[in-house]
Amino acid sequence: MLDRFNRKINYLRISVTDRCNLRCRYCMPDNDPLMLNHEDILRFEEIQQVVAVAASLGISKVRLTGGEPLVRKDITDLVAMIASVPGVQDLSMTTNAVLLDRFALPLKKAGLQRINVSLDTVDPEKFHDITRGGGLHKVFRGIQAAEAAGLHPIKINCVVKRGAERKDADGVAAYCHQHGLEIRYIQQMDLERGDFAVVEGGSGGDCASCNRLRLTSDGKIKPCLFSDLGYDIRELGIQHALEKALGNKPEKGSVNQQNLFHNIGG
Ligand code: 5AD
Ligand code: SF4
Repeated sequence: MLDRFNRKINYLRISVTDRCNLRCRYCMPDNDPLMLNHEDILRFEEIQQVVAVAASLGISKVRLTGGEPLVRKDITDLVAMIASVPGVQDLSMTTNAVLLDRFALPLKKAGLQRINVSLDTVDPEKFHDITRGGGLHKVFRGIQAAEAAGLHPIKINCVVKRGAERKDADGVAAYCHQHGLEIRYIQQMDLERGDFAVVEGGSGGDCASCNRLRLTSDGKIKPCLFSDLGYDIRELGIQHALEKALGNKPEKGSVNQQNLFHNIGG
């Protein structure tokens, strides 16, 4: 499907939960964020239906995000349900890898093709600080399990603060080089202030070539990460919500005061 600026839209990013087992400082607010109620979260059948309708309209790439997708109960079942939808050619996930040790092989068997792992530092203390308590060794173990399971290519998302020294990023780059992993640098963004930039080594943040729509865990199709627009699939029906999002996809991102990263998925 083409939007009104002639961009080919073939990529759907699905946030399957707003919950996470880490609380990265740039993603989760300091205070306890308001979490969605269970009944507001889409059921697997609903997510699968969105993917089916989206695929019939030309979506061929699907990525699962969060929060942290692996904390959603029975996530491998959802992967299998999405993988079975005709037209889905590329099925991937963005994860913090903390639980990947356990999930890599079942995910691969369910039809997941590849993963991106969020990793901003290879210094255990720094990691503990950035994630407010996370254990870096679990991430390393998770990445190893993903390699063994064949979830290739494994890409590492490294968030870098504007103007900050790149010591941590350099450390992550060395780790990636050693392990044959691809690295992408993502400048730390601010949804509320509309502060975003092109992802180095990736495709995000370049409005002119944006090919994405998003589905939030509570069922809104969002045409742009940096926009307040969102169309509720339960209110409008899936097809209509998708068409509205496509028809109203802005030429460029501006600001998003409705979402935080943990409930839209980056
Ligand atoms: N700026 C840039 N990226 C972010 N992510 C989370 N919060 C931000 C932010 N403020 C990224 C994570 C992960 C993806 C899901 O979103 O690092 O790679
Ligand atoms: Fe969790 Fe990812 Fe947000 Fe960190 S950036 S708190 S790992 S969702």
